[in-house]
Amino acid sequence: MTVYYKGFPQSDREEYVNMVNVEELEQRVKKIMPEGAYYYIASGSENEWTWRNNTAAFNHFQIVPRALTDMEDPQLDTEFMGMKLKTPVMISPIACHGIAHTKAEIDTQKGAAMAGALFSSSTYANKSVEDIAAAAPDAPRFFQLYLSKDWKFNRMVFDAIKKAGYKGIFLTVDALVSGYREANIRTKFTYPVPLDFFTRYLNGKGEGQSVAQMYASSAQKIGPEDVKRIKEESGLPVFVKGIESVEDAYKAIGAGADGIYVTNHGGRQVDGGPASIDVLPDIAKAVDHRVPIVFDSGVRRGSHVFKALALGADMVGIGRPYLYGLALGGAQGVEAVIDQLDKELKIDMQLTGCKTIEDVKHAAIRHIQYTADNLPSITDPSRMKPYPKTADNQIKTETSDATSGASEA
Ligand SMILES: Cc1cc2nc3c(=O)[nH]c(=O)nc-3n(C[C@H](O)[C@H](O)[C@H](O)COP(=O)(O)O)c2cc1C
Repeated sequence: MTVYYKGFPQSDREEYVNMVNVEELEQRVKKIMPEGAYYYIASGSENEWTWRNNTAAFNHFQIVPRALTDMEDPQLDTEFMGMKLKTPVMISPIACHGIAHTKAEIDTQKGAAMAGALFSSSTYANKSVEDIAAAAPDAPRFFQLYLSKDWKFNRMVFDAIKKAGYKGIFLTVDALVSGYREANIRTKFTYPVPLDFFTRYLNGKGEGQSVAQMYASSAQKIGPEDVKRIKEESGLPVFVKGIESVEDAYKAIGAGADGIYVTNHGGRQVDGGPASIDVLPDIAKAVDHRVPIVFDSGVRRGSHVFKALALGADMVGIGRPYLYGLALGGAQGVEAVIDQLDKELKIDMQLTGCKTIEDVKHAAIRHIQYTADNLPSITDPSRMKPYPKTADNQIKTETSDATSGASEA
């Protein structure tokens, strides 16, 4: 159930995680994860305004239900950069999966493969790119690059990921330094498990280093010329991850980017910046299908996936929820999180007459000016009040025939 790496408790659970929605996992994971690790994952920067708005702002958009569509059995399969996937839900890159599970990225890759989803591995992964690839040799995967100041290191990374069959690079440009994340300061969080690329190529192992120290080893200055150079030297397609404005989307495409990744890093960088879903429509309009768009930040529902696709995304990433799934159930936990979002998405597709993901991309969305509440459902444990128990509202277990007076409402 729990193993220890130098005193740090790691889950070794391998089980399908039953859930009513993916958000409830955030509370469940607290029981098996140390406080510092939990807050490193869960928190955002400064006042966490942007972090909160990422999910709430999905309520700026309404899905228009459609009737008389004469359609059933929607299909979620999709294609992205020549890869065949069973779902548009994608595993966004997250550092150090070893804080959630002893098998770390190996199990995440397996879980993504079981769900037919695209996996992406962080530069700060615990496991090697080779071992991750070997866990699911035929599964599609991308690599997230924190560009190093040292091009010798960058070239070594390119060689390794190409040999291991990674299909492209997400170049992260929104984390030249770490956002001001107060939770990490309060809990004195440092990475508890070694990170493979650090162990192999840099001084130290990453283990025992703070988030700020880690970022200090990456490039603090990235410009259009770097995009060109990464493309040339790696020979792989490059998406620019961390685009939140039309201007930057133009710049990235001008530099030869093969795709745009709209994200605010899950509200972990610039607090006070817009929710990612709020900037997606304008960016999609500017990109105008010249290159594909990946989207993430705040996605917790099938309806969020639906909205992101309808507003211009080709792939919709999730971050925190799958890491909680990994902690609670290993590979099957990751699979369960993707399945849950797929299940909700499928219902929304049926109720809007969308037979395919391509149909969702053309579905009608209404933009409204206010943010409606974003409360969980009334039966969610965080909101549910104790239910009054009276003599008249109890189900009798013994009688259940037609004369009992029971009726179907
Ligand atoms: C714990 C944690 C670690 C992350 N590590 C990375 C990383 O190594 N590289 C990167 O590009 N993004 C990283 N991200 C950002 C994610 O790729 C993604 O943009 C974000 O988690 C999406 O928001 P969500 O968690 O609300 O779904 C990280 C996010 C979290 C929560």
